[in-house]
This record gives sequence, structure tokens and C-alpha cells, in this order.
Amino acid sequence: MIEAAIAGASGYAGGELLRLLLAHPKVDVTQITSETYVGQYAHFVHPNLRDWTDLRFRRLDELMTTDVLFLALPHGQAMSRIDEFASAAGRIVDLSADFRLRDAADYRRWYDCEHPAPHWLDGPPSDSFVYGMPELYRDRLTGARYASGTGCNAIVASLALLPLYRRGLVRETVVDVKVGSSEGGNKPSPASHHPERAGVVRSYAPTGHRHVAELIQELNLDPERPGLYFSVTSVGMVRGALATCHCLLEEPLEERDAWRIYRQDYDEEPFVRIAMSRRGVHRYPEPKILTGSNICDVGFAADAKNRRMVVIAAIDNLMKGAAGNAVQTMNVMLGLPETLGLEFAGLHPV
Ligand SMILES: NC(=O)c1ccc[n+]([C@@H]2O[C@H](COP(=O)([O-])OP(=O)(O)OC[C@H]3O[C@@H](n4cnc5c(N)ncnc54)[C@H](OP(=O)(O)O)[C@@H]3O)[C@@H](O)[C@H]2O)c1
Repeated sequence: MIEAAIAGASGYAGGELLRLLLAHPKVDVTQITSETYVGQYAHFVHPNLRDWTDLRFRRLDELMTTDVLFLALPHGQAMSRIDEFASAAGRIVDLSADFRLRDAADYRRWYDCEHPAPHWLDGPPSDSFVYGMPELYRDRLTGARYASGTGCNAIVASLALLPLYRRGLVRETVVDVKVGSSEGGNKPSPASHHPERAGVVRSYAPTGHRHVAELIQELNLDPERPGLYFSVTSVGMVRGALATCHCLLEEPLEERDAWRIYRQDYDEEPFVRIAMSRRGVHRYPEPKILTGSNICDVGFAADAKNRRMVVIAAIDNLMKGAAGNAVQTMNVMLGLPETLGLEFAGLHPV
């Protein structure tokens, strides 16, 4: 069995990692950390895991060596302690943004910080962390020792847009991602207080969202003129992210051509489905039915007259947007079947 530890296991992403890894046939979780709940059983914080484990939280400073270390800590922790973490683990999957970007200058621009360990970023001369998106970097992740996670809004938009962008079909795109409250983590704030948060449709980041940096990087856009207009709107759900992408195309594109393109790219992908139908209630992707699953649903609608293709993608932000994608990435790194421990559908109704 492969031994795993989860740093930040009391958080929302860490809790989902624990749920997934406890059921993973090749992984044995031996350590979980929290600073707030030291000594408490996992189920005190994650009641869904009662009787699944008798693990108790320990301090991050008490972490002992392990085969795979998952870091589910707030931004800034992994980058400032990476040498210490690397000496404790053969492999690391970091869910934070600390190693997603290749250029240290992007941390100055988007995260307003000087990256303390730029030699750990991906790309020459070091090639340390690989961007943890198996759909893009399956070959590089195979055997890799270090992988980052992806931003949840970044991965849902990337999976929507990549087939059109890699074929050079798009001139400009307007993206709005609607997100649930769990995206903000488990620390309460005035904005997350129930009377303020329940039922909202609230513009959270109409411009300047940090995940744009990942999209510029992974869609190979010009950083000065990306032609990508990205907004995030908080809505009254707990889990889920829905990206509605208005792609203004170079040439008109029929829906049947889009079908061909998306099928070419995604037919073999275990966790990306083309989800569209002409009739019924569920005609386009919806996050709700993906709850708890690692699946990204993608659909589209052509507006040929306006040279517009509306591409819609949905995920569970804590799964394909965080923990599920991290387990998929770990499987690829270790040469395990990519779907191991992740082979289940979402819930319906929920
Ligand atoms: N939520 C999402 O949808 C999502 C999606 C993709 C990626 N991510 C990334 O995943 C990471 C975790 O996010 P989350 O939403 O799970 O956050 P969260 O619910 O706030 O959990 C944060 C975890 O980190 C621990 N922690 C906080 N400060 C710490 C410190 N100074 N030293 C050691 N441990 C500390 C917390 O432990 P205690 O408070 O118990 O001490 C908790 O276990 C973030 O980097 C986030 O960007 C999140």
C-alpha cells in the first residue's frame, strides 16, 4: 500500500481528499493535520466519515515521512515550506496556487507576493512542479514527483475552452463562472454569514480574478492582450462551478463541427463528458448533478450568425476542481489506473 498524509485535512478540500483516499484501494492514509483540532478524531470535523477512520489530527510540525503528501493549505504555506515538505515525502500534490504558475513574475502580478522558492516552479531550468491537469499533461505527470493542483474556476473554464483554443478558432471570449460557497474554504467571514450568503447572486470578481493567470498560461494567450474577459459570480449553492463561455470565433462554426472537435478531444477522457441533449430538463451541464463526482460536463450552443459559440462546463469545485482532480493526478504520477478510487457518478436528486 502507498502511504499518504494530508496537510490541512480539516478543511473542505482536505476533507474531500480524506473521503476519497479512505476508499482508495491502493492508498492508506496515515496522517492528517490541523492546527485547530489537534487530537480530535477526523469525524469531529467531517461527520460523514464517522466509522470510516479512527485517525486523529496532528500538527503540521509533527508530520512524519510518507510516500505521498497532499497539501491542502491556504495560499502561501506550501511555497514558504516546500523544502521541509519535500524532505518528508517522496511525492507531493499541492492543491494551493503556490506552484501552478511557471513564471515567478506572475506571482508578483497576480498574487502580490515575491515567490520564495521560484526554483520549484515548472519550466527550465528545474521542471519541478507539473501543472496537475491530466487532460493536458498526462505524459509529464506520469512518474512526476511534484504536481500542483489547478484553480477550480481555471479548470472548468480550461476544459470548456481548450478544444476551440488549441485549434486557433477563437478571437475573444467572455467567461462568467458561477460558484458555490465552499470555494471560499471553511473559515467564516461576514460575507459567508448565512443571512448574507444564502440565496445570493453576487458579483465576486467582475474583473481581475487570479485564475485568469492560469488560463493565460494554459491557453497560451498573450498576457498583455489575452482577449479573455473573466468574471466570477457567487451564487446560492454550497458546491459547484458553472462556466458560461461566450466564444467569439474567427469563422462561423456549426454545432455539428463543435461536436466533432469536442468528441475528438474528450471521447477518451475518463472524467470529461459531452453533456447535451435537445429535449428534457437537463439539456446542458449543471453542477448540481455532479455533486461528489470527479466529472466535468461540457456542452455548447452555436450562434452562427454572430460567430459565437457558447460553451458551458460544470464541475463540483471540491472534486474535479480540487480533491478529485488531485487523486486523479496522484494515480497518473504513480502509474496506477487513472480512475482508481474515483469511479462513481454524482448524486441525483440532491
Ligand atoms: N475550496 C475549493 O473549492 C478549492 C478548490 C481548489 C483549490 N483549493 C485550494 O485548496 C487549499 C485548501 O482550501 P480549502 O477550501 O480546503 O480551505 P479551508 O477549508 O480553509 O482549509 C484550510 C486547511 O489548512 C489548515 N491551515 C490553515 N492555516 C494553516 C497554517 N498556518 N498552518 C497549518 N495549517 C493551516 C486548516 O487547518 P485548521 O484551520 O483546522 O487549523 C485547514 O485544514 C487552498 O490553497 C485553496 O486555494 C480549494
